[in-house]
Amino acid sequence: MRVLGIETSCDETAVALVVDGRLVAERLATQVDVHALFGGVVPEIASREHLRVLPRLYDELMAETGLSSGDLDAVAVARGPGLLGSLLVGVSFAKGLSLSAGVPLIGVNHLWGHLLAPGLAEELLFPALGLLVSGGHTHTYLISSPVEFELLGRTLDDAAGEAFDKVAKLLNIAYPGGRFVDQLGCEGEPDTTLFPRPYVDNPSLDFSFSGLKTAVAKFVAANPGLVLDELAGAAEVEQLSGEKRRRLADVCASFNWSVAQTLKIKVERALDRTREQPGGVRSLIVAGGVAANSVVRRTMSEVASAAGLHLTLPDLSLCTDNGAMIAYAGWLLARAGYRHDLDLEAIPRGRVIPADWIVSGDKCFKG
Ligand code: KG4
Ligand code: ZN
Repeated sequence: MRVLGIETSCDETAVALVVDGRLVAERLATQVDVHALFGGVVPEIASREHLRVLPRLYDELMAETGLSSGDLDAVAVARGPGLLGSLLVGVSFAKGLSLSAGVPLIGVNHLWGHLLAPGLAEELLFPALGLLVSGGHTHTYLISSPVEFELLGRTLDDAAGEAFDKVAKLLNIAYPGGRFVDQLGCEGEPDTTLFPRPYVDNPSLDFSFSGLKTAVAKFVAANPGLVLDELAGAAEVEQLSGEKRRRLADVCASFNWSVAQTLKIKVERALDRTREQPGGVRSLIVAGGVAANSVVRRTMSEVASAAGLHLTLPDLSLCTDNGAMIAYAGWLLARAGYRHDLDLEAIPRGRVIPADWIVSGDKCFKG
């Protein structure tokens, strides 16, 4: 089965082709340089860029694979959560393609796409505990199968990636600065007393990273020498040297530690809850942009081995937004007999994604 995947939920435009569960080809265009100038994603610019770039990426993908739209068996598209204008570009393109090629349309929950993506490289073991840590979301799920996700915990304010990006911004590091905080932190020593592990002294499975961000903001305000003189991108971060680099490295290491430990506490708590269920879980799946973080990866591997669980972590290229994860999730849904009508809605961040599939010909709406 040949499934095309389309991703336009934020600031990456991406398409990919999955055939029988294997990635065959993909194209991705990132807008980070455009948005870096503004310190964050500008929604209108993002939509316009998707509109400009998506048809070209699609044509390139089809040329590379030698296929035409009529050769596809389904068109999968990220239908949310994300920026509404951006999602609408991908969803409209997918609807047009599905209609003209006469093939089923499948709306994919972008967050499920992240968590299922490692299935491209290895067999996923269900039931699984899923930790999705991205720029917009921090969610834990009990995943019973590729189409059954139960939300256990979520962030009440900032997402983990957002906290990384805001800390980078405080230091005058360009958006999205998470990877630079990771990179610098690898050279430093964490001071485990410097920043809190926020919102852990309660029984909740939810996250709240705003307190951690405020703690870093206060620390930076008290230590203004840490702030870089000019907005720093990859090249400028590379060139940092001496005492300033060493001090920044220690601050970043301390921040990485606080985030990773907070995730650890909540994941272990979620695992305790899932143990109350018959059978418990077989694996821990960690996904999303922050799953690229080296301290988070190491910490989650410790959590999994202490709990006797298989750890599934996507390759770095599959952590941030991409088309392969949408094509693969679409393939899993198509294989299970799920599809949508042309009335598929794009769902912005903050709204629950409805389970409004058509399953083997029957409309099923689970709310
Ligand atoms: O999953 P993603 O590509 O987009 C969303 O769906 O939100 O995640 C992007 C986020 C950004 O906040 C980015 O700074 C963060 O992932 N990120 C990292 C790392 N690489 C990307 N955060 C910490 N360490 C990294 N190595
Ligand atoms: Zn994402």
